[in-house]
Amino acid sequence: MTAQLIKGAEVAAQIREELKKEIADLKAKHNVVPGLVTVLVGADPASQVYVGQKEKTSKELGIYSERYDLPADTSQADLLKLIDKLNKDPKINGILVQLPLPKGLNEEEVLIAIDPKKDVDGFHPVNVGKLMIGEPDYLPCTPAGIQQLLIRSGTQIEGAEVVVVGRSNIVGKPIANMLLQKAEGANATVTICHTRTKDIAFHTKRADILIVAAGKPKAVTGDMVKEGVVVIDVGVNQIGTTAEGKRILAGDVDFDTVSEKAKAITPVPGGVGPMTITMLMMNTVRAAKVAAGLTE
Ligand code: GUN
Repeated sequence: MTAQLIKGAEVAAQIREELKKEIADLKAKHNVVPGLVTVLVGADPASQVYVGQKEKTSKELGIYSERYDLPADTSQADLLKLIDKLNKDPKINGILVQLPLPKGLNEEEVLIAIDPKKDVDGFHPVNVGKLMIGEPDYLPCTPAGIQQLLIRSGTQIEGAEVVVVGRSNIVGKPIANMLLQKAEGANATVTICHTRTKDIAFHTKRADILIVAAGKPKAVTGDMVKEGVVVIDVGVNQIGTTAEGKRILAGDVDFDTVSEKAKAITPVPGGVGPMTITMLMMNTVRAAKVAAGLTE
């Protein structure tokens, strides 16, 4: 079987066009301009790339954007003070603090400090809890992007055996939670595998839909999947550098061997990544509409 490519970059471009129109309409009809602030503490190179992409996309779509680059030795108190200021700023609808934070800062306390109505990352315990009880408000961006890719690629989710490799709070736990809900684009049977799972291949071989967010290149190989599986590869690993100094990226899935058996698979890059940023923009637009009383 030759796998169909699930081209996240194309799906994301289409959703961004829709958002661009919606944002222009909000401005023209209601004088509402969604506002997103990104906060980067320290100078982690990957985080700098991600924050830069978020800022650039905001501007392209007509979202008002602010960016704070803080030194790695920023104190917890100063970071909390900034969040408090942003919580009160009416120009700002979404607050994104890029993770991971440098050592010494308490991530949990920072996430709790963000107003849940401005939590466009969907990381605040209130939003995590709402998702858990089947009343989702702001969905975390990478899982929301994955679900959209599954829906828009026509993948049968209801009743499917979904196996998630990875149990992070950002991807593994929330995507598992979303796909098991009694809701459209969900209703799957979900298994989560992690570093202490006895036999990961036993589970991955049963998957109709396999979502891999292991944080390790080639964590899943062709011998670990069944024919006809739909594979979502969330991994972004730098495996080298070109002669021109450009990063060479690979996912968590061994694309060559897995794509021989899969029905469909996301490429890296150009799969899940562009969807994550697009869902962030979507959440920001929604937060602006809620703040303006235009939607619930
Ligand atoms: N670090 C890796 N992914 C994310 C994300 O989706 N949001 C934030 N804030 N930090 C991240």
